Amino acid sequence: MGSPLHAPVFLVVCIFIQSSACGQGLGTEPFGKSYGAAEVRKPSQEMGTRFLLFKDENDRRGCQLRVQSPETLQECGFNTSQPLVMIIHGWSVDGLLETWIWKLVGVLKSRPVNVGMVEWISLAYQHYAIAVRNTRVVGQEVAALLLWLEESVKFPPSEVHLIGYSLGAHVSGFAGSSMDGKHKIGRITGLDPAGPMFEGSSPSDRLSPDDAIFVDAIHTFTREHMGLSVGIKQPIAHYDFYPNGGTFQPGCHFLELYRHIAEHGLNAITQTIKCAHERSVHLFIDSLRHSSLQSTGFQCSDMDSFSQGLCLSCKKGRCNTLGYDIRKDWPGKSKKLFLITRAQAPFRVYHYQFKIQFINQIEKPVEPTFSMSLLGTKEEVKKIPITLGEGIASNKTYSLLITLDKDIGELIIIKFKWENSAVWANVWNTVQVIMPWGMTSHYSGLILKTIWVKAGETQQRMTFCPENIDDLQLHPTQEKVFVKCEVNSKRLKQRSR
Ligand SMILES: *[C@@H]1O[C@H](CO)[C@@H](O)[C@H](O)[C@H]1NC(C)=O
Ligand SMILES: *[C@@H]1O[C@H](CO)[C@@H](O)[C@H](O)[C@H]1NC(C)=O
Repeated sequence: MGSPLHAPVFLVVCIFIQSSACGQGLGTEPFGKSYGAAEVRKPSQEMGTRFLLFKDENDRRGCQLRVQSPETLQECGFNTSQPLVMIIHGWSVDGLLETWIWKLVGVLKSRPVNVGMVEWISLAYQHYAIAVRNTRVVGQEVAALLLWLEESVKFPPSEVHLIGYSLGAHVSGFAGSSMDGKHKIGRITGLDPAGPMFEGSSPSDRLSPDDAIFVDAIHTFTREHMGLSVGIKQPIAHYDFYPNGGTFQPGCHFLELYRHIAEHGLNAITQTIKCAHERSVHLFIDSLRHSSLQSTGFQCSDMDSFSQGLCLSCKKGRCNTLGYDIRKDWPGKSKKLFLITRAQAPFRVYHYQFKIQFINQIEKPVEPTFSMSLLGTKEEVKKIPITLGEGIASNKTYSLLITLDKDIGELIIIKFKWENSAVWANVWNTVQVIMPWGMTSHYSGLILKTIWVKAGETQQRMTFCPENIDDLQLHPTQEKVFVKCEVNSKRLKQRSR
């Protein structure tokens, strides 16, 4: 497609696989040692996996839990009456822990849970293929910790929630498959689980729904380049969320790099490249931080249907909450859920399906551009542009997805305007010449009788009719007001009395 996105995607995939085919100088060096993420620097002599527990939201050092040393549980303040949430980081290009970890620790600490981390940085700071091999070993060590907790202090694995980012998602999967069926882990959340060397592999070689009682995943960077994508595309959980389709994320565009460089200096390069991958983490953090503004995902077969607004149903468990407070029922098979998000936190938007039925009395298709203003009980959103793909030929009902950043309350009035573009002016002249009745009046031949609206977040369905039923014709530059049909029919009854 020649989109400017291809350059960063290519770069990330190169970094991921560190392939010589990508040319020299694309290894770890350009993303220098100075990448200011680390609070905790790992002493290089200490290899292997460490389990850390955090006392409060400002604790950045953590307290080390040692398997077979029960006294460390007390030292680290492990509370056996609370669940255990363990964060598992991913592959590392610089041997440093990333800053999102502390943000996630901070927000998790606002809940009544033990918060820990699986620190495997020395095993993750390797060539990608070696780090991949290490995920299995680290997963087994996590399983050993959990089995020991059950044995020593009767802490059940069902009270454990593993949150794994990128390669860490597969570490969680291997931890789960290393437990036997009687000791299943309660929940695993995969945050943009890594794709290279996992996509298409068998369920036992990656995170899969049978690794825990409940498994959810958020896919945010699955855009493919040369057959590879940073995040895994296939569903691998009970609920797989694909925000904005899962391929790429708003606000992460490479063109924004210049703004990022102005803000963060050259570290912006790494930040920009990781942006869409790491968005999965920030969506999850947002679900804890703005718990009154949770995002809902809706089951759909693909983004195409979702973009037409066809999937905003919550019937029979077809929608679920993204993030920490997800509804934990487990469907028989994986469900793919889609949603739109904003470019920054709070990420939540309000999804609406608009179904617009046109009656075109002209033979010729017309290609008008419209805008809609929506007035709700709380707020008004003005002039949302509507593009209807191909022209309107004969009678057609269009379905579209409209998302709003703010909560307008209950929708009460729609103002539908036919924008008078220069392009239209030409068409209009042609139509007038061709159509004899076009000469006499402003008769456009285009009628809009009904607009059906479905609000995804409230599941409310509404039908809107023209306020003035004596003039149903749409005219260029004119705005038509639509109100709820029930309101209209009541008014009619009153009039006839
Ligand atoms: C352990 O957790 C329980 C349940 O949340 C709480 O009531 C109790 O106060 C906690 N104990 C300590 C020592 O914090
Ligand atoms: C379009 O709908 C109108 C009104 O319902 C009807 O009279 C007309 O025959 C329809 N035209 C086509 C091409 O279906």
